[in-house]
Amino acid sequence: MADRPLILHITSEMYPFSKTGGLADVLGALPPALAEKGVDVAVVTPFYGRLSTAGYPVRLLHSDVPVGYPWPPTTAEVFHSDYQGVPVYFISRGEYFDRRFYYNTHRGDYFDNCERFVFFCRAALEWCKFMGRTPDVVHAHDWQAALSMAYLHYWRQIDPFWKDVKTVLTIHNLAFQGRYSSRLFWECGLPTSAWNMDGAEFWGDFNMLKAGIAYADHVTTVSPSYAEEVQTEAFGCGLEGILRKRSADLTGILNGADYDVWDPRGDKYLPHPYCRGNMKGKRICKEHLLREYGMDPIVATRPLLGFIGRLRRQKGIDLLLDILPALMKIGVGVVVLGEGNLEFEAQLMELTEKYQGRLAARIGYTEELAHYIQAGTDIFLMPSRYEPCGLTQMYSLRFGTVPIASAVGGLRDTIVPYPRYGATGFTFAPGDPSAFLRAIMDALSVWDKPKKWTQLRSSAMKASFSWPRSAEGYLAVYKKLGVTAPDA
Ligand code: ADP
Ligand code: GLC
Repeated sequence: MADRPLILHITSEMYPFSKTGGLADVLGALPPALAEKGVDVAVVTPFYGRLSTAGYPVRLLHSDVPVGYPWPPTTAEVFHSDYQGVPVYFISRGEYFDRRFYYNTHRGDYFDNCERFVFFCRAALEWCKFMGRTPDVVHAHDWQAALSMAYLHYWRQIDPFWKDVKTVLTIHNLAFQGRYSSRLFWECGLPTSAWNMDGAEFWGDFNMLKAGIAYADHVTTVSPSYAEEVQTEAFGCGLEGILRKRSADLTGILNGADYDVWDPRGDKYLPHPYCRGNMKGKRICKEHLLREYGMDPIVATRPLLGFIGRLRRQKGIDLLLDILPALMKIGVGVVVLGEGNLEFEAQLMELTEKYQGRLAARIGYTEELAHYIQAGTDIFLMPSRYEPCGLTQMYSLRFGTVPIASAVGGLRDTIVPYPRYGATGFTFAPGDPSAFLRAIMDALSVWDKPKKWTQLRSSAMKASFSWPRSAEGYLAVYKKLGVTAPDA
């Protein structure tokens, strides 16, 4: 067993313990998939006040792990759980993580996010050292964990414990960078040499994601298309330059879908299971959803369109709001689940008043409702302006809920657009509401031909994005860095 390499993931979210989006789903599925492939895996993540133990026992391991940040040095508590055979270590420090939300309230980001996640990165690494086994790879996710890449770049030059460690950063969303005043750089414990335009400095500010991109041995993004896009001005969010510089060490690996959680054949939330060979259950799920949302029962005979996601411009919720009146005229039903921008929430609620019975929305998010919508709708809407990978469209495919999505990022990599051979959905030019509406009209004209619709839906349900295959992609990256699983 000793020669199984150890991969340590550092992440700010992990399903089922904490979740604001797809990052959590990835961390709930990738580590167990890697462990299946013959590597040891552990995850380090914050112990939030809102942490859900989801029925898993979580116990205190240590109450006094020294962390050399902030000044004067402080300590962290570390809790432990086990998820699908993967040890999960929770870093706890009440003043940083015991809050109502993870990163922000409706009024904006927490003022001390930089300090919170500098502390988290340092505590994760100190804890690892405390345990005494050097990971072969430290694999960080998004800006909240990115600074660990920079620390390790320097520490491995001076600390024998870290001498041989390799580092990988996965970018799930380039728009969130952890950008702060330069003052905070001087407090985070990186050497002066990291303060330059090829390091942590970004237009005079401290940029935590950029530091990660600069110092990780390898950088990945969550789909091949997004790996290309981030190197362009249109999608690079200002970091296209450094990403182009790192292009030889930049790989796009498509996420998988966790079919143990998202599959209508055995979904624990659904009133009735269903599968490709027997779709009766989908109709029952639709009727259940209509009741749950208090919609007009007549919609059961009409196409029902669903949207699940953060109500932000990224997700194109404004495009949907634009075309909703036109959709209502056509006579389809629409259900929305999400929360986010207060203005979008208000517009949505106003429209639901106006179109009661055929348009319904819930502000917020529950796993249960997300599963109901995936199962009970006929068409899934995903008009994202950019989409690093996107998981909800993968889930909708498996649920036989035909996706209509913008042709961008991971959506391009996962949907075969109609009328191409083997089509699984519809795509349109990102950011264009009339193209979005046209794509919906195209879909409705196929809906009107039941044989064609059944064929399309059946191809959608056959599409498979397995985690074992994605895990292979990550193993190939580790191998490139000289870390190989014994049975690979
Ligand atoms: P993103 O991570 O950009 O939100 P993905 O499609 O990758 O998009 O993943 C979305 C995941 O998060 C799905 O499991 C979806 O059901 C869930 N989700 C969507 N909206 C919310 C929300 N407001 N809070 C928590 N989870 C959400
Ligand atoms: C981010 C992206 C989303 C991706 C998810 C998981 O939240 O916005 O496209 O699927 O991370 O990688």
